[in-house]
Amino acid sequence: MKNMNNRKIGVFDSGLGGLTVVREMERFLPAENVIYFGDTARVPYGNKSKSKIIEFSHQIMRFLLRHDIKAVIIACGTASSNALEELQESYDLPIIGVAEPGASAAIRATRNGRIGVLGTAATIRSGAFERLIRKENQDLEVFSQACPLFVPLVEEGWFREDVTRQVVRRYIAPIKEAGVDTVILGCTHYPLLKDLIQEEMGEGVRLINVSEAATLQMKDYLEEHDMTSGLDKGEYEFYASDSIDQFRTFSEQILDLREVAVSKINIEKY
Ligand code: DGL
Repeated sequence: MKNMNNRKIGVFDSGLGGLTVVREMERFLPAENVIYFGDTARVPYGNKSKSKIIEFSHQIMRFLLRHDIKAVIIACGTASSNALEELQESYDLPIIGVAEPGASAAIRATRNGRIGVLGTAATIRSGAFERLIRKENQDLEVFSQACPLFVPLVEEGWFREDVTRQVVRRYIAPIKEAGVDTVILGCTHYPLLKDLIQEEMGEGVRLINVSEAATLQMKDYLEEHDMTSGLDKGEYEFYASDSIDQFRTFSEQILDLREVAVSKINIEKY
C-alpha cells in the first residue's frame, strides 16, 4: 500500500537562486507541498566564512522544522558545499544538497574527463565539488572558477545584458582554455544564466543544472522510501528575511505560479 506522506519539503537558499529548485519541483515533483525560505536579508553567502554559513543554515533548519517537514533540499551551492555534513549530523530527516547530485550528473556526462565547476567564492574555496568528483574517479580532472559577480547580476534580473555576457566571458575563459566538455553550474542562481553560458562555452559543452539534479535525487529518494505525497497538486509557501517585493517579482518571473505570497520573518530569532 502506498504511504501518502503529505508533509512538506523544506527548501532554502541565501536568497532567490533557490527558486530555480522550486521551478524544477514544479516539473518533477508537482504533487509535493513545499515551504521555501530565502535569506534575502543576509544574501550573499558566497563571500562569508564556513562557520557563518553553518550558523545561518542551522537557524533556517530550526525555522523549517517548525513547519511539519519530511525532507529538506539545500537549494544553495554555497550552503551545500559548506554545511551539508553538519546539518545531516544534527537533524534526523533526509537532507539533500545540490553538490553531490551535480557532481554525479557531471561524472555521467563527461566524455573527455575534464570537468569545469563554476560557483561562489565560498563554494570553490570549500573544494566540495572537486572532492566529490575525484572520490568517484581519480582520473577525472576538475577546473574550478569562482564567479562572485554572477549572483548580483542574476538578482538584478540581468540574464542577457551585454554586461552579463562580458562577465561570463571573463570568468569562463580559464575553463574554456582547459578544454572541459562538461561544466557544473554549481550555484542555484546560475541556471538563469544558462543560455548565455552555453553560447559562450560553445554548443558541444554539456552544462549541469544542479537545481534539476538535486530535485531528481529527491524524487528518487521519496519514491524509494515510500515518502511521496498522495496529493494531485502540491501547495507552496514562501518566506524571506527581507525584500519581499523583489522576491515576489522575481519568483513570478521564473515560476509557473501566477501569484506568489511571501511572508517576512525574523530568522535571527531561530
Ligand atoms: N544560490 C546560492 C548558491 O547556490 C547563492 C549564492 C550566495 O548567496 O552567494 O551558492
